[in-house]
Amino acid sequence: MIDHFAFVAAVYDRLIGSPDISRMKRLLKLPAAGWLLDAGGGTGRVSAAVDGLVDHTVIGDLSAAMLKRSKGRDGLYPVRLRAEQLPFPDGTFSRVLIVDALHHFRDQQGAVGELLRILKPGGRLLIEEPDIDLWAVKGVALVEKMILMTSHIQPSGEIIRMIEHHGVSGRVSERDHFRVWICADK
Ligand SMILES: C[S@@+](CC[C@H](N)C(=O)[O-])C[C@H]1O[C@@H](n2cnc3c(N)ncnc32)[C@H](O)[C@@H]1O
Repeated sequence: MIDHFAFVAAVYDRLIGSPDISRMKRLLKLPAAGWLLDAGGGTGRVSAAVDGLVDHTVIGDLSAAMLKRSKGRDGLYPVRLRAEQLPFPDGTFSRVLIVDALHHFRDQQGAVGELLRILKPGGRLLIEEPDIDLWAVKGVALVEKMILMTSHIQPSGEIIRMIEHHGVSGRVSERDHFRVWICADK
């Protein structure tokens, strides 16, 4: 399987830019006690920005090249993993974050189940995805298909259905001109 992210890892953070920290703090209800998992967290671009607002942060990602870029970011623990099969006991994390990554997971339903399994009761899952209801995002999805990425961007209603399949209720918390944020409290 091709790791497309290995080709962009060195420039990824500069390419995408900085996350909106105040939005992340608000939607993740930070600061919070406990551990945060940034699933499909890549270089740690997002979790580095909120580090210090939780006790510890794990960046979990399939791409060794992306994870390598997170080295040297104090307080972040990079772990190479597949989101569909997480190497953590039930209820390990008080916060779980997925930014722009769910649509890259091969088994999205399975991954959502795993992410909810390792979330503590009372914890929060936050999913940021491109909003496929918008034409600009449909264009991005087409480009990703053309470069043979196996990504599949789902409508927000379908992501909520994946969450609710595991007995937890989900809701759209915010949208902008490109993205949608979905929260679920366990
Ligand atoms: C578009 S990048 C987003 C990285 C990071 N969340 C950010 O916003 O900076 C998507 C990430 O998902 C990772 N990924 C793809 N499939 C995965 C899987 N099954 N399990 C874990 N990570 C995966 C990729 O390696 C890549 O680093």
